[in-house]
Amino acid sequence: MNKTNNHVPALITIFGATGDLSHRKLFPSLFHLYQQDNLDERVAIIGIGRRELTNDDFRAQVKSSIQEHVQDTKHLDKFMQHVFYQPHDVSDEASYQKLLELSESLDREFSLEGNRVFYLAMAPRFFGVVTDFLKSSGLTKTKGFKRLVIEKPFGSDLKSAEELNEQIRRSFKEEEIFRIDHYLGKDMVQNIEVLRFSNAMFEPLWNNKYISNIQVTSSEVLGVEDRGGYYETSGALKDMVQNHMLQMVALLAMEPPISLNSDDIRAEKVKVLKSLHVLQPDEVRNQFVRGQYDKGFINGQEVKAYREEDKVAADSTTPTFVSGKVEIDNFRWAGVPFYIRTGKRMKRKSIQVVVEFKEVPMNLYYQKDKHLDSNLLVINIQPNEGVSIHLNGKKYVQGIETEPVQLSYAMSAQDKMNTVDAYENLLFDVLKGDATNFTHWEELKSTWKFVDSIQEAWDHFEPEFPNYESGTNGPLDSDLLLSRDGFKWWNDIQ
Ligand code: BG6
Repeated sequence: MNKTNNHVPALITIFGATGDLSHRKLFPSLFHLYQQDNLDERVAIIGIGRRELTNDDFRAQVKSSIQEHVQDTKHLDKFMQHVFYQPHDVSDEASYQKLLELSESLDREFSLEGNRVFYLAMAPRFFGVVTDFLKSSGLTKTKGFKRLVIEKPFGSDLKSAEELNEQIRRSFKEEEIFRIDHYLGKDMVQNIEVLRFSNAMFEPLWNNKYISNIQVTSSEVLGVEDRGGYYETSGALKDMVQNHMLQMVALLAMEPPISLNSDDIRAEKVKVLKSLHVLQPDEVRNQFVRGQYDKGFINGQEVKAYREEDKVAADSTTPTFVSGKVEIDNFRWAGVPFYIRTGKRMKRKSIQVVVEFKEVPMNLYYQKDKHLDSNLLVINIQPNEGVSIHLNGKKYVQGIETEPVQLSYAMSAQDKMNTVDAYENLLFDVLKGDATNFTHWEELKSTWKFVDSIQEAWDHFEPEFPNYESGTNGPLDSDLLLSRDGFKWWNDIQ
């Protein structure tokens, strides 16, 4: 990772440290930062969990998860000397007193200058309780900085998000709250802004005069796995659309910021999210499609229907797929549909943006047996990472027949080896205090308002689920959504 060496001493306290996220993402990312010399020797990490573990028990667990996720484990033992554990009951005052004592002693031992990061990798129902106790126990009263990092979901609708926000704001200011959306840590998502604003050739065309539609897809092959309990309360709309999908739309649609300062970038994102066209119930019926996977085949293996998954109701109406037409009511984008699509148990894992340009005003050329293709700009976010431009060129035969030509830039194998996990980027930003790639409360307000309008309309009628087979591109209605407008999903494009 090519980060500027910007060492910040800090105590990082992770609530939910024995959970899956901590083991799969947080500790491997922290270790990698340390290994790359992007984490200071003046760092201490306290893992907090309910279980009674000793430091040694916990270190052994963390060590084995790091070994599982990171290839090169040089300096692992040295890193482990920075890791501590404290058994903790989140609703018990005394636990916070013990945490305060441990924090103060580590602060002295590692010269942490009172800088404290509290990472809540736990169920959101505990967020408010924990932040209240952090304040009342004196843990947030520190001479250094205090920062709160929280995972989604942030509420389950606008009202609950507002309540939660009020609660955590009792202990932390907005600029001290880092709300994670891990898509914003992905290198190619961050690249959207760079491509748009550092190249003269895109920006003049980036509007309703030249773009016919933009497609944003995040499809997964995996099903709900062991998260049925959580997913039943969320579904694809709240799990993916409210955050990741709309964040990508915001980056594609925002105006150029006046500087790369976090406040300036976020101000532009807020502006565009405020222009999302909030849907009336009949618009939801015409513009949004929900789906749920049935059984089917993935890589030749038969897989279960969603309703047969663990902790999922046999008559569940939770959507595992959503596609829809998002409209942005502003001068630049009026009339350009942003089609978004996300689902589980689909044909392939792909996060991709396709920008489709309008046809030339008078087309004199043709492609054999076919309408001339539109120009496309394809941004591959995952698993392929790169950009391609699809053009029309002359076919090498007599006459003026054309053929599609593709210019592509793919991240090299060498670059790929150095690609870091989104969490590593984000943890580094938290330590630096750079909030650019985190979700501001104003962004959340607009995205919840938009998502609530869809959910409310859906609550009024029962879907006919399941409606797509596992291993496919989702329900037929999703294809009709585009074909009605004269477009198609660019499914197999790279
Ligand atoms: C998470 C969702 O935020 O994103 C998961 O809760 C989903 O349901 C995941 O699987 C997808 O992330 P990625 O990075 O694999 O596209």
